[in-house]
Amino acid sequence: MEKKPILLSGMRPTGPLHLGHLVGVLKNWAKLQDEYHCFFMVADWHALMSEYMAVEVIKNYTLENVLDWLAVGISPEKATLFRQSDVKEHLELAMVFSIITPLSWLQRCPTYKEQLKQIKEKDLTHYAFLGYPVLQAADILLYKAEFVPVGEDQLPHLEIARQISRRFNHIYKKEIFPQPKPLLTRESKLLGIDNRKMSKSYSNFIALTDSEKEIKEKVLSMITDPKKIKKNDPGRPWICNVYTYHTIFTKEENSILKVQEIESSCKKGQLGCVECKNTLALYLSKYLDKIKEKRKKYNLSTVKAILEEGKKNASQKAQQTIQEVKSILGML
Ligand code: TRP
Ligand code: SF4
Repeated sequence: MEKKPILLSGMRPTGPLHLGHLVGVLKNWAKLQDEYHCFFMVADWHALMSEYMAVEVIKNYTLENVLDWLAVGISPEKATLFRQSDVKEHLELAMVFSIITPLSWLQRCPTYKEQLKQIKEKDLTHYAFLGYPVLQAADILLYKAEFVPVGEDQLPHLEIARQISRRFNHIYKKEIFPQPKPLLTRESKLLGIDNRKMSKSYSNFIALTDSEKEIKEKVLSMITDPKKIKKNDPGRPWICNVYTYHTIFTKEENSILKVQEIESSCKKGQLGCVECKNTLALYLSKYLDKIKEKRKKYNLSTVKAILEEGKKNASQKAQQTIQEVKSILGML
């Protein structure tokens, strides 16, 4: 059997998955699972760092998010799907890494500083949160993953993972850990219905499980070209978020020709925004119907069984690495 490079990625189960996750992350995972030996992880310890006052959220969305993964074509036959807290070695390796990580690396991490400033409704000034990237490094290096598909916001964490890897190998004079590389998604970030970044905290997302009615309402409230006021005003599709959605969802459901037709009739002032949005709602609903259909094939107990299987697979690799590490540390 040909040996595929190892890849790991994770998602925090803090809310429903939406079109932004689908376009930015999940479609990419579905592609990668054929080319890499993939581990896809529900990062529930990381979620707990911010949701420790509302733990029901994590419990609920752990299974729900994995259901969504399955519904968009991520396959337990191809990849290992597991929950971080099911594999106790994550915490063991994080402990070892926390000893060899200088405080200054964590204190100057830009995501840490930003989150402390931005997130006011939760108290993140706790001990574990500073070590967020240390646990993330353990997630990756426990499986000796060489590739990590992430968004740009995670690059500082990956840099810390590489530093930790280098430092461990250097201190113990063994090439135990690889230098994990990011795989940045090429797909542009899909904006929310208010033109801001699509995010749970802005409530501007369309969830993969939204009903047809919700989809229609949300699409009708999307921002369009502000200069196109009357139906017959010529519009600028290239600055219009509705048009961007057409280039993804209408293209997939109908054809590129349909999208080109929308573009040209918008420019010529022959298409009104309401009609244009109705068309989008139609194709977006069709698109999501297929995901919802696939979602119905699974239920929460099949998801649990898949995570149980994933736990076994992941634990095998994790135990090997921890054995190596403990032997180096003189603990065996
Ligand atoms: N920090 C990531 C996020 O916020 C989630 C995550 C946890 C992760 N561990 C990981 C991503 C390991 C890639 C690799 O989305
Ligand atoms: Fe956007 Fe469509 Fe309106 Fe053109 S017609 S501005 S593409 S919503």
